[in-house]
Amino acid sequence: MESIKIDNLESIHEAARTFIDKMGDATVFAFKGEMGAGKTTFIKAVCEELGVGDVINSPTFAIVNEYRSRSGELIYHFDFYRINKLEEVYDFGYEDYFYSGALCLIEWPEKVTELLPGDCVVVNISVQSDGSRMLTIN
Ligand SMILES: Nc1ncnc2c1ncn2[C@@H]1O[C@H](COP(=O)(O)OP(=O)(O)OP(=O)(O)O)[C@@H](O)[C@H]1O
Ligand SMILES: [Mg+2]
Repeated sequence: MESIKIDNLESIHEAARTFIDKMGDATVFAFKGEMGAGKTTFIKAVCEELGVGDVINSPTFAIVNEYRSRSGELIYHFDFYRINKLEEVYDFGYEDYFYSGALCLIEWPEKVTELLPGDCVVVNISVQSDGSRMLTIN
């Protein structure tokens, strides 16, 4: 397990770069953390560091947003918060995304635990008492 501390919003891009350096060959990342922990904010910073031009803050209504990195690679940003039944996830064809080889950054993976690939990397984000965030990567 590795951890990355994000002291404040000013240092989030630096933390995102550290995270990117640790990503290795993994493509599916599940970001866990309570509401407001900073999942969207961190994913946005990671996407910006990968050269995505216009990162949408949260794929609130779309389940998934598609971005393209500086090098032309696809990035999928999911928010499963509003999923009530796994059927909805089957219906939108989650396998085509998770097993595409493209980078998948997932908010509220708890809603689709059964469907996450075995090699999915779990990232926990927790708010510390001083307002900083601690990322732990499993
Ligand atoms: N590293 C950070 N340091 C300080 N503030 C942060 C940090 N990350 C996020 N925040 C602030 O916390 C708030 C919530 O962040 P964000 O929307 O990213 O949370 P979330 O985990 O995506 O929440 P949700 O579960 O609702 O999707 C925002 O106001 C954001 O500015
Ligand atoms: Mg969010």
